Order: sequence, then structure tokens, then C-alpha cells
Amino acid sequence: MHGNRPTGLSAGLTNYGDPQFSLFLRKAFIKAMGYSDEALDKPIVGIVNTYSGYNACHRNVPEIIEAVKRGVMLSGGLPIDFPVISIHESFAHPTSMFLRNLMAIDAEEMIRAQPMDAVVLIGGCDKTVPALLMAAASAGKPAILTVTGAMSTGRHNGERLGACTDCRRLWGAYRAGELGDAEIAEINGNLAPTSGTCMVMGTASTMALAAEALGMMLPGGGAIPAVHADRLRHAEKTGARAVALGTEQLTPDKIMTPAAFDNALRVIQAIGGSTNALVHMAAIAGRMGLALNLDDFDALGQETPVLVDLKPSGQHYMEDLFHAGGLAPVLKQLQDDLDLECLTVSGRTLGEELGEARFWKDQDVIKTRDNPIYPKGSIRVLRGNLAPRGAIIKQSAASPTLMEHTGRAVIFETLADLDRRLDADDLDVAATDVLVLRNAGPKGAPGMPEAGYFPIPKKLARQGVRDMVRLSDARMSGTAFGTIVLHTCPESAAGGPLALLENGDQVRLSVAEGRIDMLVDADELARRQRNLRIPNIAADRGFLKLYLQTVLQADEGCDFDFLRPNDLCTVGGKSSI
Ligand code: FES
Repeated sequence: MHGNRPTGLSAGLTNYGDPQFSLFLRKAFIKAMGYSDEALDKPIVGIVNTYSGYNACHRNVPEIIEAVKRGVMLSGGLPIDFPVISIHESFAHPTSMFLRNLMAIDAEEMIRAQPMDAVVLIGGCDKTVPALLMAAASAGKPAILTVTGAMSTGRHNGERLGACTDCRRLWGAYRAGELGDAEIAEINGNLAPTSGTCMVMGTASTMALAAEALGMMLPGGGAIPAVHADRLRHAEKTGARAVALGTEQLTPDKIMTPAAFDNALRVIQAIGGSTNALVHMAAIAGRMGLALNLDDFDALGQETPVLVDLKPSGQHYMEDLFHAGGLAPVLKQLQDDLDLECLTVSGRTLGEELGEARFWKDQDVIKTRDNPIYPKGSIRVLRGNLAPRGAIIKQSAASPTLMEHTGRAVIFETLADLDRRLDADDLDVAATDVLVLRNAGPKGAPGMPEAGYFPIPKKLARQGVRDMVRLSDARMSGTAFGTIVLHTCPESAAGGPLALLENGDQVRLSVAEGRIDMLVDADELARRQRNLRIPNIAADRGFLKLYLQTVLQADEGCDFDFLRPNDLCTVGGKSSI
């Protein structure tokens, strides 16, 4: 007991109507694991085991768990690991996003159900860090995150390769006929050469660094490569700190405050972060009762340059960011705009941690504010008659020549339609057109797949066209690049205006003005609206039924409506409470 609060094995007893018998029985069973009474008297640190044979990004989880356990025991605690769902991007049908909330529910309920005074979360692949932070926010127990870390780069003909920006770039070259079958097969073996997460500034890297900025991870943990010994030292330190977190009752609501979200959102803009991060941050904030305001996030991006020169916005990889000093030098560059009073899981404020941080070692990778790689933040929020609740574009990875563009809409109704017609020789398409994919949002697909980065039609690719304006209600991988408008909200399948667009309509994109519009007069739009039939997308049973009935739109993080509080306060950079 800690005061009146039950701790260790006594917490959260199974209901048999006799608490003392419940504890007696619990002890009897856990002794079958070989624990002594002395061990069972210690504070318990749960460790979320996200290892899966399907998840190469989590290949090193067993050794991370071993290091976390060492840290817990060095600090006088008892570590107990337990499994939860583990999601890998390429092994989740129809899409990993469809399963993120399921992982969050699994983790939340198991953290709540089992006795633990604190929990160590081991994230990595894209959906795992957001799912675990959503779970921790809702479970309310002291929680601390560590991650598997980024992969090291591969090589092909002397060139460094990284998943998955180079996967997409070289696949595009293969489609254009510039690479043969043998060479693309050889490349395939070198794109993901070690354990760990994608080593560009994709969603996994973005969420790891955002979580560090949010204060949920011990300093320095976001950028350590998966194979570096520091990865295990960070895990050991995380385990050691978890014991104290339990004693101090430093719960996530004390860390994930509105100001901490503002810090993390600013960092996402400055690192050239993934567009997916916005959906995930909205979901995590939602669990804390906070609504992410897209316009405020956009305003924050207008005053925050991209400082980290990593693919897909720049040229380097995560291991380079680590050797340049990790996130700390970035935070130092931003410190005048950060709230340094925010408490972190270390028990110290962000300002106190920064005071001890290393200076950067490589200004080729981490730029100064007066010499950024992009003058504004990585993500621009767009509004307009195609996206009344917002859409986004990763402006730092877009083609400058296409950022102000008007073109004819060439529409694909679904992913299957895209697959069927995109490469057809008789497709009526020109390089100046705007390619549109609809019914690919949270409900329409379902699962809001990373289909927004769809290929250039083959006949244009063969002519050397490398980028076109693409517009959809889908997401795209954080590792992708191009002039791609995503997350149009509400989605077409929910009756959003993307459903009103017709082939041949003129679509105008203005990144400078933050606009995405169809140039169709109001009377005609009203006529189309009257004739619009919103499809009834439903399922008979199972998780799909729950998903379709309760999933929220992109601006609300695609969480399920029943998983967050009803009344939300605003967060996003300017209007923090
Ligand atoms: Fe796991 Fe990219 S596939 S991080």
C-alpha cells in the first residue's frame, strides 16, 4: 500500500467478492512463474511487449525488454512484461490505421487490468507509438515510452538506401523503365538491412521525436539507432526511471499538457515531420480531452522553419541525426518558442533537460534557424470548398513548380478503380492534370490507407513526368514525397465535397494561400449536393462493424468516438489553455 492506494500485486484485484482471497489466489498463481515473496513485495513495472514475428521494425524488442528489466531491478522494482497487438505497416490488411485503435484498446485495457505501479511502453513502427500513447493517456497509470529505434542505411552501387523514401523513388524508376528486374530485386534486399524502423523522417521517426518533445520519453531516446548500444542503455535507464515514476505517481496527464502538445507540434514542423503525425497527435490529444486546432497548427508552421535535413524533405537519414546530436540541438534552436516549464518523464522540466544537452555536432544535418532547409514548417493546412474541415500538404517535400497550380480533375472513384485504370494506355490524362482519388478516407476505404501517394500514370512516367498534383481523402506514408494533398475532410464517403467533384472540373491548389478549391460555381455545386447519395457503409459483425460505426474523421484523429471525453479544449500552437 502507498497511503490508501494499493500498490504492487495488491492493485486492481480480480473480483471474487473477497479481496484477501483474490490476493491469495493471485500470489499462488504468479508463484508458478518462480517468483519469491521478496520479489513479489517490490513495486511492479509492467512492460508492454510489442514483439511479433510479423514486425521486423520490432525485431529488437526482446533485447530492449531485457535492458528495461535490468534497469527496473537495479532500482528495486519487479519487471513483468506482457504482450499486446503489434502492427507492422506492410503486414496489416486492409491498412495498419484500421488496427491502430484496436492496439490502443488492447494496451489500455491490459495496463488497467493487470497490477503494475508504472508501465514501460515499447513503440516503434508507425502506429505503435500513437496507439501506446493513446492507451497510456486513457489508462492514467504512470507511463514512460522507449522505442525500437531507426534502421541503419543499406547500400546499392555505392549509394545509401533507406526505407521507404528510396523504396518509392526506385520503384518509380522501375515503373518508368529506368531499372531492370534484376536490379530492382537486388535493391529490394538492401532497403531494410537491420532491425528497427524506417530510417527517414517517416511516421515512426516523427512520432519518436514528437514523443520525446512531448515529454513521454527520456531525453535523447528518439534518434538512437536500433542497433546502437545506446539504444539498450536508454532502455535500461527507462526501466530504472519507471520505478520512480510509480512512486511519484507521475501520471500522463501531468506530462501531456496543452503546452507539451504545442511543443511537440512545433517540433513536428521543424523536423520535416510526417503528415500522419497530425492525425496521431489529434488522437492522443483527444484522449487527454484536447482538440487539435488545424489553423493554429498551420500558423505555428508559418513561423517554424524545417531544420532537420532528412529524407524525404532533405537528404540524410536518422543515423545522421543521431550522430549530429539527436533532438536536443533542434530543441535548442527552437527554445525561444517552446514552453520550457513542461514536465517530462525524467521528473525534470524540458528546460532543465535542455540545459544539460549536448550541442550539435553536424550542421549539415541540423540547420540553424537562419539557415533552414525550408523557410516554413513541413506541413501546410489547406482550406477551401474541397476541404471545409481541412486538408494538408507536406510542402517541404512538394515540387515548388506545382505549389500554385490549376488543373483538370482526373478522378478515380476507389482504390480498385485506380488500380484498374491508372496505367491504361487510353487514360485521358496530361501532366498538368490533378489526379484525384476518393472513397479512400477513414470510412470509405476503410482505414484511411496510405494511398494518397499513388504513382504517376505509366504513360506519363515514361515521358519523364515525376510529380503531379494529387488529391485524396487518404493519407500517405511519411516517407513519401511529391505535391500531394491529403486528409481532405470530411471524406467523400461521409458526404464531403470531394464527392461533388466531376471529371474535367478545374481544381486550384495554392499552398501560399493555404487553399484547395474546385472552380465550380455555387449554383452548380448546390445542384450536385442535392443529387448526392451518401453510401451506407456498414458491416454485419466484428471489429469492422465497431470501426465503421464509431470512427471519427481525420481532423479528430480517426479515433473512435467513445474512446475520448465528450468536451474537448483546444490545442495547437496559439490557443492553448
Ligand atoms: Fe515500420 Fe516503416 S514499416 S517504421
